Amino acid sequence: MKKTFTVTIKNKDNGKVYQEQVNSDEYILKEFEKKGFKLAFSCRNGCCTSCAVKVISGTLQQPEAMGLSQALKDKGFALLCVAKATSDLEVETTHEDEVYDLQFGQYFGRGYTRVAPPWEFEED
Ligand code: FES
Repeated sequence: MKKTFTVTIKNKDNGKVYQEQVNSDEYILKEFEKKGFKLAFSCRNGCCTSCAVKVISGTLQQPEAMGLSQALKDKGFALLCVAKATSDLEVETTHEDEVYDLQFGQYFGRGYTRVAPPWEFEED
């Protein structure tokens, strides 16, 4: 059964607070966009973490959030592009790449990643 919840989004960068009524069967990002808000996004498919937020209070469901590990979900992170409110909800935006670094940063600087294409290291 469709319900309506109040969702509050605090912008971590500029301190602004946005609040709207959203339908429980719609994605939160889409609901805010319908009302004229411009929130961060990229893939819109739960992969890139551009739309990541930290839940302050309330609950949501995000079964399609494949770009977010269970460990980060357990710490309260969510992806608004594929999240639906299941109660009144208060969230805070994250800094660009914050969640990406939390999830993958431990692997940076290891393995076979090259810092530049090999032809830049060739000598005459
Ligand atoms: S826009 Fe990419 S995960 Fe939400």
